[in-house]
Amino acid sequence: MRRIIFNQKGGVGKSSISVNLAALSAASGKKTLLIDLDIQGNSSHYLGIDINAKNDKTVADLFDQTVSWFSVSTPIKQFPQPTAYENLDIIPSSPRLAALEPELERRYKIYKLREALDELESEYERIYIDTPPNLNFYSKAGLIAAHNLLIPFDCDTFSHQALLTLMDNLAELRDDHNRNLALEGVVVNMFNAQAKFPAQIIERVRELGLPLLEPFIPQSVKMKESHYHQKPLVHFAPQHKLAQHFAELYARLESAEQQVPSPGMSANNEGAKAAQS
Ligand SMILES: Nc1ncnc2c1ncn2[C@@H]1O[C@H](COP(=O)(O)OP(=O)(O)OP(=O)(O)O)[C@@H](O)[C@H]1O
Ligand SMILES: [Mg+2]
Repeated sequence: MRRIIFNQKGGVGKSSISVNLAALSAASGKKTLLIDLDIQGNSSHYLGIDINAKNDKTVADLFDQTVSWFSVSTPIKQFPQPTAYENLDIIPSSPRLAALEPELERRYKIYKLREALDELESEYERIYIDTPPNLNFYSKAGLIAAHNLLIPFDCDTFSHQALLTLMDNLAELRDDHNRNLALEGVVVNMFNAQAKFPAQIIERVRELGLPLLEPFIPQSVKMKESHYHQKPLVHFAPQHKLAQHFAELYARLESAEQQVPSPGMSANNEGAKAAQS
C-alpha cells in the first residue's frame, strides 16, 4: 500500500509525518520504503542522507532514465537504499529534480513513478511518499502513484484556504488520473489544546466534510530537535508525548487499513466528494 502525504501549503508537517509514520511502520516489522519527491530533501536529510553527496540512485535518477535514450537503465529494484533503521529503505531526493522537471513534463512522464512503484509493490508492504509544497510534476506523479492520501493541516487560516484549493485540485486529479486515490483524512499537526483558535479552525475543516484523523499531533520543540539530530522523533524520544501521539495515529491508520479489502476507494472518499459539492 502506498500512502502519500501532501498539502501544497509549506511547513505543515509533510516531511515530519512521512518520516515518523514510515519509521513506525518499519519498527513494526513491515518492509517500508520512503520516497522523497521534494527537491528540498528534508525527509532524506531527516533520515541521515546528504542529498548533495554523489549518488546515482536518487529519485531524480529514477525519472532521468525515463527520458535518457542512451543510458543503460538501472533495474528499479536497485534504487532503494537502506537507512540506519531496520526494514526502512529510502529513494532520496536530489537537487537535480528541478532541472529535470520541464523535460519530464514535456514528454508526459507523469505515470512513470506509478509504473516504478508497481515494480516495487512485491518488495514493500508500505511505501510512504513525501511531497513538495506545490502541485508540480513530482507531487502530481506521487498522487497518481499513491493509493491513500494524508493531508497535514497546521491549524492556520491560510491552511484552511489551502485546503479548499487542494480539494479542487484533487477532484480534478482523481477524475483525470487516479480514481482510486482514497483520502484517509486530515492529520491535524502542531495542535495547541490550550488555545481557542485551533479548535475553531478545526471545526471549519470538519464543516467541509473532510475526515479528521485522531489523535491530533501536538506542537513540541522535540520535533525540531529530532530533525537537528537527523533521527525520527519516534526513535529520538520514544517516551515523549509527541511520539506517543504518532504511535496512536499510526495504529489507527493501520487498523482502518486492515478493514479496507484492497488499495483503492475507501468510504473516507465520501467526505472529500461532499467537500466538492
Ligand atoms: N508537531 C510539531 N511540533 C513542532 N514543530 C513541528 C511539528 N511538526 C513539524 N514541525 C516543524 O515545522 C517545520 C515544518 O515541518 P516539515 O518540514 O515537516 O513540514 P513540511 O510540510 O514538510 O514543509 P515543506 O512544505 O517545506 O516541505 C519544521 O521545522 C518542523 O520541525
Ligand atoms: Mg517537507
